[in-house]
Amino acid sequence: MLDKSPFSTISTLLDERVEGRSLPAGLYTREDVFQADLEVLFRKHWIYIGPECDVPEPGDAVAIDIGGSSLIMLRDDDGELRVFHNVCRHRGARILDAGTTVVSKLVCPYHQWTYELTGELAHAPHMGKDFDKTCNSLRHANFRNIGGLIHVCLSDDPPADIAALEAVGRERLLPYDLKNTRVAHQTDLIENGNWKLTMENNRECYHCSANHPELCVSFIDLDFGFDPESLSPEDRETADRHEAMYAAQTAEWEAQGHPSAAIEQLTNCGTNFRTQRLIISGAGESQTPDATAAVSKLLGIGRKDLGDMHLWGHNSWHHFMGDHIITAMVIPLGPDKTMLRMKWLVHKDAVEGVDYDFDKLTSVWIATNEQDGSLVGRSHAGVSDPAYVPGMYSPFTETQLNWFAGWYVDRMRAHGY
Ligand code: FES
Ligand SMILES: [Fe+2]
Repeated sequence: MLDKSPFSTISTLLDERVEGRSLPAGLYTREDVFQADLEVLFRKHWIYIGPECDVPEPGDAVAIDIGGSSLIMLRDDDGELRVFHNVCRHRGARILDAGTTVVSKLVCPYHQWTYELTGELAHAPHMGKDFDKTCNSLRHANFRNIGGLIHVCLSDDPPADIAALEAVGRERLLPYDLKNTRVAHQTDLIENGNWKLTMENNRECYHCSANHPELCVSFIDLDFGFDPESLSPEDRETADRHEAMYAAQTAEWEAQGHPSAAIEQLTNCGTNFRTQRLIISGAGESQTPDATAAVSKLLGIGRKDLGDMHLWGHNSWHHFMGDHIITAMVIPLGPDKTMLRMKWLVHKDAVEGVDYDFDKLTSVWIATNEQDGSLVGRSHAGVSDPAYVPGMYSPFTETQLNWFAGWYVDRMRAHGY
């Protein structure tokens, strides 16, 4: 008998999770669970906060509010990337508002304590001659630059298994040369649902054919599993053909020195990730309305025949193509509100209207995100209904969700819930 009491503990809710089914309602809807999620999944695990190219030049800074914390990522005068807590060492005021800016020093608006871009406190008026500035530098946040994707962990004891993601990410992202990209576009989409529903939605393509006409031009939903018994003989033939083509293409890419096979660390781990190089359908080049490259100035090694390298973390997903990259960060705002921040990265020298058409570059994922946002809202409304009982995941198309739910419960348990 499920305990539906609104007063049950988080631990009881975790006990109620049934293998192979979606989570008990309270794990999606309750404020105390949301706060626990922030504490455990967003402060004690590695989270993605954005691409390195957000701050290309010395003095470029971006403040990112995520999970109740705020971080400043900046490029210092020597070109070093740094990540600080956006908390003044005087009385704690936020130094920068969320968003991008250019600074020569970091000046707290409250009483003008002024920090160098290295974080050192340079100036603090009226503090007396015995005041030791050297003990009042900005606090650094643990961060790793994984092939141009910046990950932070706000805990003093970060999960060591980030090493696996670092090894895989560095190798697989190298050909895209993220250091020499720029942000061509960014959207902040508010989804009316819990962040775990956003992640669940992203980890299956069961919904793709019915909901994503634009994405399905280039994306192959069969790559994310199917029940052969559900397919017509004709579709079964298509699936067989695709599987053979995928195997041959993967072998060819790997023989050329481009690792492509799936690598995943999804269960019994702190750092949750998966990567795989996928075939792009049709013209085979990019996630655009006709699957041809949107940008003529290609990234890195300059190949547009290396498919779509996808990468997931527990608050992110990315697709790396020859001509552009989409990178998505999931920012929980409340039990029923999540921000999806997407950036489109192109070669740093690519010029809009000359090297690419803006709509061709952005339209597929703008449409896809809106469709997904609406599905997440629909899903959250349903799990909030007293009539909701956890439903069965498809063993063919939703295995990833089952693993994600299991990983989530394990992680909460590992941190005392
Ligand atoms: S709180 Fe920043 S200077 Fe006072
Ligand atoms: Fe989707």
